[in-house]
Formats: sequence, C-alpha cells, structure tokens
Amino acid sequence: MTTDPILSIRGLRKSFGAAEIIRGIDLELRAGERHALIGPNGAGKSTLFHLISGNLLPSAGEIVLDGEHIEGWTPERVNRRGLARSFQITNIFPKLSVFENVRIAVMQRHRLEYNFWRRIERMGSIREATERLLERVRLQHQASTLAGEMTYSAQRSLELAMTLASDPQVVLLDEPMAGMSSEETHYTAELIREVTAGRTLLLVEHDMDVVFSLGERVSVLVYGQVIATGTPDEIRRHQGVREAYLGEEHEA
Ligand SMILES: Nc1ncnc2c1ncn2[C@@H]1O[C@H](COP(=O)(O)OP(=O)(O)O)[C@@H](O)[C@H]1O
Ligand SMILES: [Mg+2]
Repeated sequence: MTTDPILSIRGLRKSFGAAEIIRGIDLELRAGERHALIGPNGAGKSTLFHLISGNLLPSAGEIVLDGEHIEGWTPERVNRRGLARSFQITNIFPKLSVFENVRIAVMQRHRLEYNFWRRIERMGSIREATERLLERVRLQHQASTLAGEMTYSAQRSLELAMTLASDPQVVLLDEPMAGMSSEETHYTAELIREVTAGRTLLLVEHDMDVVFSLGERVSVLVYGQVIATGTPDEIRRHQGVREAYLGEEHEA
C-alpha cells in the first residue's frame, strides 16, 4: 500500500554563519508510521526538528506537511496545521500542578482557534480535554501534584500530554527517554506507542533497543545528511551505518 507522505522534506539546508549544519536532507514520513531518527551527537537532529517545527528558518529546501508548503511558517501556524513537537529540554512549569500544566497547553490550542467569548463558553470542555489527556498518559492520579515534584520520568509523561494537547497528526519527539533508567525507558516507549497510535511519529532516540522496536522505519543522520533510510533490519545490516554510527555508539 502506498500513500502520499504526510511530511516531505526535500533538499533541506541550514547554515549558521559559515557553518552548514543541515546539508541537503531528503526525508519522507508515511502517514501513520513510527519513524526513528538516529545519528551521532551534533549530526543535526535537533536542528532538523527546529526547521520542521518552524523554530528555525531553512537556508534552502522544501518542507511539505500534508500537501502544504510550511517553510517560513511560525511555530504556532505549523502546530495549528497538525504538527507538534517536544523539546530536548523539558519545558514544563515546575511550580504549577500537573493539571494546570496540561490545561495551559489545552488553552493554547483553543486560543489559536476560538475568540475570547467562545473560549469562555468552552471552559467546561477545556477541563474535560485536560482530564482526558491526563488519563491518556496515566497521570490522572497526580493531577494536583506540582510538576516539579514529580519523578523525571513522570515529567516526561506530562510533557507528552502537553504535546498531544493540539491533537496533532504528526508528532516529533526529541530524545524523550534521555536520562531514564531502563525500566522508565521501557515504560515510556510503550506509552509513546499507545498515544501516537493513529498519528505519525518522528522520534530521535539513542537507545537502540527502543529505536529498533518502536521504529517501523529508521533514518540515519550523519553530519547533516541522511545516509540511509530503511526497516530496522535493513539499518542493522547497512554497512555504511555500522561504520558511521553503530560502531561509534558502542565505544561511547
Ligand atoms: N543556533 C545555532 N548556532 C550555531 N550552531 C548551532 C546552532 N544550533 C546548533 N548548532 C550546531 O549544529 C550542530 C548540530 O546540532 P544539533 O542539531 O543539536 O545536533 P544533534 O541534535 O544531532 O545532537 C552542532 O554542531 C551545533 O553546535
Ligand atoms: Mg539533539
């Protein structure tokens, strides 16, 4: 079965001053797939995410989301069009409760779509939407806990709920398991699998067990270029990938 890609990146480039960091990336996400992006530190994975989400402007190239060119769009507009991302650094409000954190994300979504009075009318549904999101990430019993007082892993679940608040078609997650124990990593990987069902996922991750179990396809980014895309098996066997990345990762 072939479908049009939900996200299509062609000839994407980004320079900071004289340094070209993204050096002509071509990448397609199929609607509904879980796609893992791997590559050594400094390869440009986070920069690629910033370009897709509208936080950085490309120097050249095309980004097409569900048939629409989104280069030069603001992050808000990209989000409204159906793409949400989490950041590599946790961006929750530690002094607010779990519930309040998610409600802010839900209200942001509503502010983008409704005027003030419509929003007031919808306060009930904002609360309901917040509760639903908390249940999806299994945080409903910690709704009144201050976000900053939760475990690191629970904070990442919270961040996932906030990312899902806009009900995105495409979700970009940048190292969501960084700093987790293997138990937490396993738990979070299963949660990500659950909450991204029916959506398209692009996931940056270093843990190869997670990459190869969660990723239906894997792309390898090395020095600003995608050097391979394929199934987990194809990537494992790919000689260039083993030399450029997998071998190096094992030394680390
Ligand atoms: N705003 C910026 N200005 C200059 N250099 C940057 C900027 N952002 C990232 N870089 C550089 O781009 C390279 C890729 O960074 P990054 O995208 O964070 O890599 P990755 O996420 O794959 O580890 C690094 O060498 C980094 O120093
Ligand atoms: Mg990064």
